[in-house]
Amino acid sequence: MTDEAPEGLRDGPYPDDFAILDAAQVHGLGDMDPERFRSAAHAVVDAMADYLATVEGRRVLPAIEPGSLGPAFPASAPEAPEPLGTILEDLDRLVVPNATHWQHPGFLAYFATTASAPGILGEMWTATLGQNVMLWRTSPIGTELEQVVVGWLRSALGLPEGFDGLLTDTASTSTLIALAAAREAAGLRATAEGLAARVRAGTPVLYASAEAHSSIEKACMTLGLGRASLRRIPVDADYRMRVDLLAAAIAADRAAGSVPVAIVATIGTTSSTSADPVAAIAEVAAREGVWLHVDAAYAGAVALVPARRGPFAGWERADSLVVNPHKWLFTPLDASLLLSRRMETVRTAFSLVPEYLRTLDHERPVHDFAEYQPQLGRRMRALKLWMLLRYFGLEGLRRRIEEHCRLAEELASRVDAEPDFERLASVPFSTVCLRWRPAALRGREEEPAVRARLDAANERLMAAVNATGEVFLSHTRLHDRFAIRVSIGNLRTEGRHVDRAWDLLRREARALDA
Ligand SMILES: Cc1ncc(COP(=O)(O)O)c(C=O)c1O
Repeated sequence: MTDEAPEGLRDGPYPDDFAILDAAQVHGLGDMDPERFRSAAHAVVDAMADYLATVEGRRVLPAIEPGSLGPAFPASAPEAPEPLGTILEDLDRLVVPNATHWQHPGFLAYFATTASAPGILGEMWTATLGQNVMLWRTSPIGTELEQVVVGWLRSALGLPEGFDGLLTDTASTSTLIALAAAREAAGLRATAEGLAARVRAGTPVLYASAEAHSSIEKACMTLGLGRASLRRIPVDADYRMRVDLLAAAIAADRAAGSVPVAIVATIGTTSSTSADPVAAIAEVAAREGVWLHVDAAYAGAVALVPARRGPFAGWERADSLVVNPHKWLFTPLDASLLLSRRMETVRTAFSLVPEYLRTLDHERPVHDFAEYQPQLGRRMRALKLWMLLRYFGLEGLRRRIEEHCRLAEELASRVDAEPDFERLASVPFSTVCLRWRPAALRGREEEPAVRARLDAANERLMAAVNATGEVFLSHTRLHDRFAIRVSIGNLRTEGRHVDRAWDLLRREARALDA
């Protein structure tokens, strides 16, 4: 394990002529010469391939102190041009070793994001074409390819044709857009009148489970609804929203004159990956006439596998939903899929077309994606998805997702069979939540002092495992207990990496004194 380039990695020197400035740098006005770009790009791609081939030999988490990297860079941008070779060598020396290696097969923290090779190739072309997919006119292929890819994903996820959508940067943005549409649908007219309308209509309220992601609350903050507008509905023992308490909360809010705006159900919560009972929640939403948004940012990918669609029952009744290809569909950041059955309402929430953005020369209406989101400029995200969907095929994606679920199930059984460890949640997808429960403290967890010791011991255990550099685990709290999460979703993770994580957990636990 090393922060340096692993053995065998060619990390330069770059070709001799990279050591000197090129003509464009010395007296040119335009870009790098295309032939120079060609040789530079070849060298960079070689380094990229070497990185991917050897990333497993690096520490997943580089051993660095916060604040120690900035001082390695000059305080101001260079006045004079610098040779390409110097820049690339600095990249090898200062950038690559100091990254947290999300591409590492031992990355089992948070939810994985893998930049697959076909996705990287797509990003390279995206950057090269430099499309801004704000209007059909500014990128006909960016617009229409996005419509194609959105349709492909919708149907692959088993959702009906009534859903349409767009690709955004993140689930946070997708949810923000969905809830802005919900705010319009609730008659708040906030798009036109802002907070003034809110005062007349009554206090808006939204509902999500206590386990819902912070992006829901952030959307409330951003949309002027306020954090106070979000009702956190308690969960059952399996971390699933209590539908009876949801219905009761809505009834109480209506009685108090508040305006229910949206219910957010989660399939695959961030902490435990629990799935809310969406079908029952959809019933409540329909009865109450409230917008239903489903956050399946992580777990949505599993809906590609028909046999595993059980937890998704009812999501086809949502008004909007989000699935992140940049989580478990091996797409380089960023790519989030927002689907809605009410795209006209989404458009009402965001459409604003000044004269300079109006498409003049078309009789036929065009689809301008900028009308459906807060930003104007947009990346061409469809290209990398189009490439990787074709490269892997749905069949290949299903096979990989199935394997991750299988690995998680296998790990869960091992945890269950190990008396010194305890599993803290069911494993509906590919994430296992566990904690160490040494014999000396077992059975005494009701004592506050013992609970605190168990929390501290598990925190130390996770730190010790991460300090090996071989794997990277992250944590959460479940039923107010420190929980270690092992989340499998990296394209490069194999059974042996999960085995290693489990071996390290047990080895480091033996070495610790709880
Ligand atoms: C359930 C869920 N929703 C939303 C998000 C936010 O995703 P993003 O980083 O794409 O905004 C996450 C992130 O992990 C998540 O787990």
